[in-house]
Amino acid sequence: MKKILVLASGRGSNFQAIIDASRTQKIKGEIIALITNNISAKAIGRAKKHHIPVYVIHSQKNLDPRLRGDDLTFEKKLLTQCQELNPDLIVLAGYMKILPQNFIKHFKNKIINIHPALLPQFPGLHAQKQALQNGTKVSGCTVHFVDEGVDTGPIILQEKVPILGNDTEETLSDRILQKEHLTLVSAIELFCNDKLEVKEGKVYIK
Ligand code: GRF
Repeated sequence: MKKILVLASGRGSNFQAIIDASRTQKIKGEIIALITNNISAKAIGRAKKHHIPVYVIHSQKNLDPRLRGDDLTFEKKLLTQCQELNPDLIVLAGYMKILPQNFIKHFKNKIINIHPALLPQFPGLHAQKQALQNGTKVSGCTVHFVDEGVDTGPIILQEKVPILGNDTEETLSDRILQKEHLTLVSAIELFCNDKLEVKEGKVYIK
């Protein structure tokens, strides 16, 4: 059984998909804890319901959460807590804070993220809105290993979602979200079965 640590900041529907997959043993992994930077995250309630320990670790500085590197207390707390938990895999499931560089180095090839677009298209915030504004006909979701960039690491799995003529940001986000849950669980399943290998910045599925 792999030890999975989830980091989430909000609603936590992807977190819920991982909880369900772990409970039904679709994935050979146990969720050892949830770490959140948001005391009001709905994900906390989901964790409590399933007796998953929760750690709230947030920056004391009122900075744009997408900025990194200037709250050393936060960085140290996060790294120390994660080292203590000693996970095999860290899943960013809607974690809205960029991780410190030293954290990423420490857990190299052990952190995965779900992004609501077909990377490298539309990285960063509001990926679904970016897709609509761009007039693209197909978007989707990507699960990737996290490297030092923003939404740039080696891609594990992607799933397409067509964009319909009458789509709004909300309807498109909802349809992509359904795919996110499946794709994220599939990627975790591959990781837990030791099927992923990263070579020269690319993921190979064994
Ligand atoms: C998802 O769309 C995820 O791709 C993005 O933030 C959203 C989180 O949704 N990074 P939820 O909290 O998992 O419901």
